[in-house]
Amino acid sequence: MRINHFPTTVAAAHAVADRIAERLKAKPNLVLGLATGVTMEPVYERLVARHRAGEISFAGASSFNLDEYVGLPPSDPRSYRATMDSQLFDLVDIDKTRTFVPDGLAADPDAFARRYEAMIREAGGIDLQLLGIGRNGHIGFNEPGADFAARTRVVDLDASTLEANSAFFGGATPPTQAMTMGIGTILDSREIIVLATGAVKRDAVRAALTGPVSPDCPATALRNHPNVGWWLDAESGADVAA
Ligand code: GLP
Repeated sequence: MRINHFPTTVAAAHAVADRIAERLKAKPNLVLGLATGVTMEPVYERLVARHRAGEISFAGASSFNLDEYVGLPPSDPRSYRATMDSQLFDLVDIDKTRTFVPDGLAADPDAFARRYEAMIREAGGIDLQLLGIGRNGHIGFNEPGADFAARTRVVDLDASTLEANSAFFGGATPPTQAMTMGIGTILDSREIIVLATGAVKRDAVRAALTGPVSPDCPATALRNHPNVGWWLDAESGADVAA
């Protein structure tokens, strides 16, 4: 596990984008695992800027997103599919038929979840998984209590997550369920980058890196993975040493 400290949020996010760009140059058919959230916005902005500057191409890449709200169609701007389209996919040269996001409207969610896992395997597995962290230590939408071996499935969201994400819903309560890759799915990735920024993530980062490895803090599962980097700003990383 590596811990990288940066003085500012933007510096941490841009360093993550630059790491992704490096990987993409080394392996043009990179399989990316992607995350949504406020934390990722400057990462995608930087990737778009570097693409526009002619420095990186996503033409050979494919991607699998971590999660999606149950009940939101892709046309809803608050869906993670729409978010990814507007923040990244529509702004770079990725083949959109190779960008995958869980289907929040699947008529048979269990069957869809099994298919999503199979698609990841058929793509050769995820080379590089980008992760944020919830204030309660969740990764993807694997809330406290989630089994470390869990695969893609529908989950109920915690009250604290609904509150944190209500900002995206004009203060209203978001959908109370989501389909998410499991912790087991995430741990299968060959490399994991966790980006956590801001004082609101300080406690979660400390618990994830220094607390007992336990489903009470899902991000502690990452301590079992051989290739994880944490990318922190001054506020989120205030309690952890490099
Ligand atoms: C959300 C998402 C996660 C994200 C995390 C942090 O609920 N499901 O994938 O990493 O919580 O979000 P934010 O970056 O907005 O703080």
